[in-house]
Amino acid sequence: MNDSVPSGAAPAEPVVLARGLTKRFGKFTAVDSLDLTIARGEVVGFIGPNGAGKSTTIRLLCGLLTPSSGTARVAGFDVATQAEALRAHIGYMSQKFSLYGDLTCRENLRFFGGIYRVPGASLDERIRFVIGMAGLEGREDTLVRTLAGGWRQRLALGCAILHRPPVLFLDEPTSGVEPQARRRFWDLIHDLAAEGVTVLVSTHYMDEAEYCNRVALIDAGRLIAIGSPGQLRERELGGTLYELACTAPGEAVAVLRAAPGVLEAAIFGDRLHVLIAQGSDASSLSALLAQARLEASAPVAIAPGLEDVFVQLVMRTARERERERERQREHA
Ligand SMILES: Nc1ncnc2c1ncn2[C@@H]1O[C@H](COP(=O)(O)OP(=O)(O)OP(=O)(O)O)[C@@H](O)[C@H]1O
Ligand SMILES: [Mg+2]
Repeated sequence: MNDSVPSGAAPAEPVVLARGLTKRFGKFTAVDSLDLTIARGEVVGFIGPNGAGKSTTIRLLCGLLTPSSGTARVAGFDVATQAEALRAHIGYMSQKFSLYGDLTCRENLRFFGGIYRVPGASLDERIRFVIGMAGLEGREDTLVRTLAGGWRQRLALGCAILHRPPVLFLDEPTSGVEPQARRRFWDLIHDLAAEGVTVLVSTHYMDEAEYCNRVALIDAGRLIAIGSPGQLRERELGGTLYELACTAPGEAVAVLRAAPGVLEAAIFGDRLHVLIAQGSDASSLSALLAQARLEASAPVAIAPGLEDVFVQLVMRTARERERERERQREHA
């Protein structure tokens, strides 16, 4: 669908190319020297804690915010100097994106078609395409406020691609949508990518990170890891990961973090994941928990998942930042 899309990018140029991209709000740095290269047709997931800078980065890349320093080119356009031209070549679903509830599906599409200046002659064909893609046949004249969340998100995605943008920025597009509808939404993302559309999508759902070609982990404005889900899982955590079940995970985590040989302990639902230093003995953990009168199962070694890698990396960088602050205080 995308071959006829006019784009400022030469074929070999990455679709997204950010170098040292930085956004400061007053003294606060929300996005800090970010380097990011994304090729045509890639689906890149953006993961990070609340306030990490995901939305700010996306808004910079859409040309909606001006960088404080650094540069970014998207679809061949400079985000700072060619923002106006860039916007015709991107699709953007903002974090709080909403459709008009008191308009029908078709009316919403007509409205957004106007905003994106889709020529009248091709608008009907584009609306038909989007209705089909989103699985909304028969619901064209249904009021959007009566649609379930999953349909609404797919219609919102449809509105963002009416003008056939070669790049899509989706900021938490599936938040609050039930799992099966999220899965369908991701099928659409992959269909678009297969046609050459490049997608940068932020999410808090780890299962969605697994659907991406690459995942970028951002924390406190910095890109702290990027790679395929497989590459990230294979990252050296510096120890062996154990899982155990415990009736009072909150108290157990505090006991374990203070224990010798424990590099990190984190709660995963009703389980605990504990990273033990190479050469340390996991069997002593049970005795420690028993001493603290906490009931727990015996620790079992497990392979780390993406979430383990992220938790470890975020905690590690938080500790490094704390040490850096201490050093600065000592020198002050
Ligand atoms: N216009 C602004 N003025 C001042 N601070 C801002 C502005 N926009 C964002 N910030 C701050 O920048 C930081 C990054 O915000 P951002 O919305 O990019 O995070 P996020 O990773 O998208 O978080 P979430 O997962 O909650 O959506 C936050 O501390 C936020 O308060
Ligand atoms: Mg956000």
